[in-house]
Amino acid sequence: MTDSKDRITLRRPDDWHVHLRDGAMLEAVVPFTARQFGRAIVMPNLSPPVTSAASAAAYRERIMAAVPSGAGFTPLMTCYLTDDADADDIADGHANGIFTAAKLYPANATTNSAHGVTDVAHIMPVLERMQQIGMPLLVHGEVTDGDIDIFDREAVFIDRVLEKLVRDLPGLKIVFEHITTEQAVQFVDGAGASIAATITPHHLHINRNALFAGGIRPHAYCLPVAKREKHRLALRRAATSGSSKYFLGTDSAPHEIHAKESACGCAGIFNAPFALESYAAVFDEEGALDRLEGFASVHGPEFYGLPLNDARVTLERRDIAVDDSIESTGVTLVPFHAGAVLPWRITQS
Ligand code: DOR
Ligand code: ZN
Repeated sequence: MTDSKDRITLRRPDDWHVHLRDGAMLEAVVPFTARQFGRAIVMPNLSPPVTSAASAAAYRERIMAAVPSGAGFTPLMTCYLTDDADADDIADGHANGIFTAAKLYPANATTNSAHGVTDVAHIMPVLERMQQIGMPLLVHGEVTDGDIDIFDREAVFIDRVLEKLVRDLPGLKIVFEHITTEQAVQFVDGAGASIAATITPHHLHINRNALFAGGIRPHAYCLPVAKREKHRLALRRAATSGSSKYFLGTDSAPHEIHAKESACGCAGIFNAPFALESYAAVFDEEGALDRLEGFASVHGPEFYGLPLNDARVTLERRDIAVDDSIESTGVTLVPFHAGAVLPWRITQS
């Protein structure tokens, strides 16, 4: 990375957690991710979910068809684990370069997770196989029990599920995704090298007050839901610490405006348009711009055992205004930071 006070150049980053959807929405959102990132781990929570190597290969084709030519973008596919997950199909898909990782959604934890895993015990043979072949497990870390307060669901997941999983399968590579609490940071810091975590831009920018700032704010609602300020600060310390256990994963999760601004609005923040700029603002505020490249472009590929990107991207300290809404392919979306100004932008080279 070369840098000055107002300009930094880093290796082209990757997004280790994104929702690209399908159909018109896929066409609308892919160019935003492809503009900034060399690769992205694509979530499989379509309807129906991506549970087989064949369906992942077909989905990858649909994504590639939506990538603007010359973007230099590669989608990395994931398998949605169900109670009936097929260890052979998953292992073959991994060996054939279709599946990079598999995703554990506890059943009913979030959008399109009804087919998720009801008890980790049901998929132990699959997880053992993944451990054997070095295939990472990506975890949505929240319990779903109605009697657990929504703000405690991540911390309780660590106590009830994750600690045991790590004990039982010490060699399994696990990415604790979109962490939101200081308990998650403590857990990851204290765990071995096989455990890492992604952190979203929104969880670095907002705390739970943002959901109720002057009225109810559906565009600040995502899962896991934003927590108290002390948790946001713990996430900022983790992301900017330089630790190789933490890397970039936007969890950009677009829903059409009418599905967000509704009596029962969907969970998800669409941050793809200015994700790198959003992270850069945080690292700058924390006086840690020199650590942005590790977080955005190095720790992720190293954890996954993939090469670093050769291309470079330059950011300059120059305001960029974020639109109130974005319309594309007949879809209207409200981006994260809508109506605000971000202090860094990617230079047009
Ligand atoms: O806010 C979220 N939205 N969290 C998730 O885990 C899923 C995602 C989505 O697919 O909309
Ligand atoms: Zn997600």
